[in-house]
Amino acid sequence: MSKKRVVSGMRPTGKSHLGHLHGIFENWRALQDTYECFYFAADWHALTSEYKHPEVVGQNLWEMFADMLSAGVGTGENAGYLFIQSQVKEHAELFLLLSMVTPLGWLERNPTYKELMRELKEKDIHTFGFLGYPVLQAADIVIYKAHYVPVGKDQLPHLEITREIARRFNFLYGKETLVPPDALLTEAAALGGVDGRKMSKSYDNAIYLADTPEEIKQKISRMVTDTRRARKSDPGEPDACNLYPFHKIYSPKELQSQIAEDCRKATIGCVQCKKYLIKNLIEGLAPLQERRAYYLAHLDEVKEIVYAGTEKARGVASQTMAEVRDVLGF
Ligand code: TRP
Ligand code: SF4
Repeated sequence: MSKKRVVSGMRPTGKSHLGHLHGIFENWRALQDTYECFYFAADWHALTSEYKHPEVVGQNLWEMFADMLSAGVGTGENAGYLFIQSQVKEHAELFLLLSMVTPLGWLERNPTYKELMRELKEKDIHTFGFLGYPVLQAADIVIYKAHYVPVGKDQLPHLEITREIARRFNFLYGKETLVPPDALLTEAAALGGVDGRKMSKSYDNAIYLADTPEEIKQKISRMVTDTRRARKSDPGEPDACNLYPFHKIYSPKELQSQIAEDCRKATIGCVQCKKYLIKNLIEGLAPLQERRAYYLAHLDEVKEIVYAGTEKARGVASQTMAEVRDVLGF
């Protein structure tokens, strides 16, 4: 039986951090064993916010692929296909055709749109391109007839619009040409930033895959912990501590339970707890960072992988476009 298909994309707008690694890349890597996966750099989507500085997109593109590969995405036995959205021009053609059938109200009511219009004050996103963001995303997905799209909760409204557009297209032209995809909900990244808020480039609270051991040490040292522990003798609650989720990923099980117990009894201080984490995180991340350094030093290999993936993607995309043009009589 042929594998079901998964598609997901990421905008190359900045450096990857541990939130991306544990929230997205590890999930993408695991899905490769079960599905035929297409993972791409959504460089056109990146332009919706970066159009005044388009060079940002190119600067982040290859590093993002190196990050993915070092995390096992696009490499290994069941490697998915990596590609660049803008190199498969069919996405743009389908975007145009889907835009014809998409009612404005669906886009204007999109909660993500309304939220970003309110919040992204420093970027002028009062553009046609930004309103049409979900239509381009729908094209990205349905052009591969993807069954599943791994996304975070924040992307669910976009996926719902994709489903609606696919259904409307099929209804209008009387044929089940496009597949309305289902979300594979990625559990919200358990990792907070060093200040306790969501890990994000815009909050400047992230630990990056590119960070040196010294930078990691600095960041963990100034990390906010459970506020109940104003003094070392005050007991804390690891499940309410920003640091503990990192131990859950990077420290051995025995140390995790020992820390949890000692924290609740106030027999370990946060400084000591951080020392353990600094060591384990630096060591745990080292193999990935080595692979990452390798890919960055061998970008020709990265490009070869991505160009091969782009060829594969283009083949599938052009087949869908032939069907789409056909039902429209074009
Ligand atoms: N909007 C997605 C994000 O910001 C990126 C994206 C673009 C995407 N096209 C996609 C994700 C298609 C999944 C499928 O995270
Ligand atoms: Fe957090 Fe560790 Fe301090 Fe407990 S001891 S509050 S888990 S940093």
